[in-house]
Amino acid sequence: MASQPPKDQWSSKTYNEAGGFVPKLASKVVELLSPSPSDHILDIGCGDGPLTAQIAQTIPSGKILGLDASESMIKTAKEKFTSTNCTFERQDCAQLNGTAFAQGQWDKVFSNAAFHWILGAAENHLTVFRGLFAALRPGGTLVFEMGGAGNIAEVHTALIGSLMAHGMSKSAAEKANPWCFPSVEEMRNFLSQAGFDISLVESEYRPTRLTDKSRDGGGGLEGWIRLFGDSFLQVVPEEKRDEIVSWAADCLESIVTRDGGSQWLGYVRLRAVARKPM
Ligand SMILES: C[S@@+](CC[C@H](N)C(=O)[O-])C[C@H]1O[C@@H](n2cnc3c(N)ncnc32)[C@H](O)[C@@H]1O
Repeated sequence: MASQPPKDQWSSKTYNEAGGFVPKLASKVVELLSPSPSDHILDIGCGDGPLTAQIAQTIPSGKILGLDASESMIKTAKEKFTSTNCTFERQDCAQLNGTAFAQGQWDKVFSNAAFHWILGAAENHLTVFRGLFAALRPGGTLVFEMGGAGNIAEVHTALIGSLMAHGMSKSAAEKANPWCFPSVEEMRNFLSQAGFDISLVESEYRPTRLTDKSRDGGGGLEGWIRLFGDSFLQVVPEEKRDEIVSWAADCLESIVTRDGGSQWLGYVRLRAVARKPM
């Protein structure tokens, strides 16, 4: 039976404005994917689809299916990027195991910037990796990039600080965290417990420039906080949310702003390549 996706916190329009840089910074993980022309690829947490479509162009005799839990993201992906070898479906990928998408039919399972959300919301991390394992054919490859330990630590701290400054206890503020940012060692454990043979798990500190209203019409630091930090805002009444955002943005401003006014967050990327044994 199809599972109920979690509440949709995503809007493809807002994602474009505040997070449009995310799919554009995926060159290293796409290089690791190294698609063969006839590959059948499953893209987990595909968002609004530009990266899925980019990969589709490199597999003319293959196909790629993008899955995402967000209705808004999948609607936009379908409208903008559906083609003969590129399709999209709505699916909660924390619950992949046992679905029609996880029947050992994929040569490669790919993901960019989605596993920290999926694992963060999952009750059991191993269940998620077992679903990915079940999706691959024997000998198939899992290739992904996600946030790793220490990712965006400054904004994470500012959001917890803002909630505490507005009267929330430390433990309640910490519970609002939607993400799971594993270390290399933790990821090795997840993968090997699920049965994968590990080829690579690496972490990279990659400071990342935020969008900017004057440069690219983007949402800047506040836009980033409102979109990606939404779970921290949902735990307070609506009328308090602007204040939570302003407090965190104010606290972060001098730390993330560089010469010339550009704003950067301390992204840490975790990349992995793992194979399902033959
Ligand atoms: C930062 S976006 C990355 C999108 C895309 N991969 C890219 O590179 O632009 C994270 C995506 O993960 C999706 N997501 C979060 N939790 C999910 C889940 N449980 N199952 C499927 N998708 C999920 C979100 O809806 C969102 O589209």
